[in-house]
Amino acid sequence: MPDRMKGKVAIVTGGASGFGKGIATTFQTEGGSVVITDLSEDTGSAVAKEIGATFVRADVTKRDDWEKVLKQTLESYGRLDVVINNAGTTYANKPTETVTDQDFDLVFNVNVRSIYLSTNVILPYFLKEGIKGSFVNIASTAGIRPRPGLAWYNASKAAVINATKTMAVEYGPKGIRFNSVCPVFASGTGLSSKFLGKDDNEANRAGFVATVPLGRSSTPQDIANACLYLSGDEGSFITGISLEVDGGRCV
Ligand SMILES: NC(=O)c1ccc[n+]([C@@H]2O[C@H](COP(=O)([O-])OP(=O)(O)OC[C@H]3O[C@@H](n4cnc5c(N)ncnc54)[C@H](O)[C@@H]3O)[C@@H](O)[C@H]2O)c1
Repeated sequence: MPDRMKGKVAIVTGGASGFGKGIATTFQTEGGSVVITDLSEDTGSAVAKEIGATFVRADVTKRDDWEKVLKQTLESYGRLDVVINNAGTTYANKPTETVTDQDFDLVFNVNVRSIYLSTNVILPYFLKEGIKGSFVNIASTAGIRPRPGLAWYNASKAAVINATKTMAVEYGPKGIRFNSVCPVFASGTGLSSKFLGKDDNEANRAGFVATVPLGRSSTPQDIANACLYLSGDEGSFITGISLEVDGGRCV
């Protein structure tokens, strides 16, 4: 079923790498218009050029940057329909008593404050224009079934899931949808070795993969497929869910 994003304009944060790159590529392939945002100007603009998207350098933790992204999206495409809050980060897996103030502030700023700012800046636009927009927030299985060594990353993703559900019920009557996607571990993204707390190689991944009933880690395409369903018209009656894309890991 091609063109599942036809006529839709989407912002994808953290689109320079990993899941964000996969989501942006899939949305463009499916006929959507994508604005990639990222901290990394070089990688972000290279990906945008490669797939025919627009790039805006923006830090998801800064209100001014969100305002700039909305303005440039409207200038480029005349409207906005979908926001994929994908940019996220973590400190390397370690004993929780060794987490620093900087580690804590980093995960809550990038993973949680980003979603607060995106909704605080973009909801007034959706409400004013009467747009039945959709937010998809990339959380994690870590927010549902936490494992040791990443306490505050896990807690930040649980906050994402909870805020997503709250806003789903609050803005459902306006037709604005909020869902989260919960990936299981993926190899080969910018964060993979930090989640493992060691090199991202087959031997170090083996213990983790053994806990996934379908027997593999996730891929950017798996996550993009979930975002596509939730953002396109097929997902129009879905709101407030946290969709586990995890090969059965959370069962
Ligand atoms: N990789 C996994 O195993 C995994 C599993 C579950 C959830 N996730 C979540 O998926 C999302 C994407 O992760 P990924 O694995 O693709 O990581 P990644 O590091 O490959 O990509 C993240 C992108 O976000 C950008 N970014 C970081 N901080 C930013 C900021 N302040 N402002 C703007 N951009 C910023 C980075 O530059 C990078 O391009 C994150 O929210 C992560 O928590 C990842």
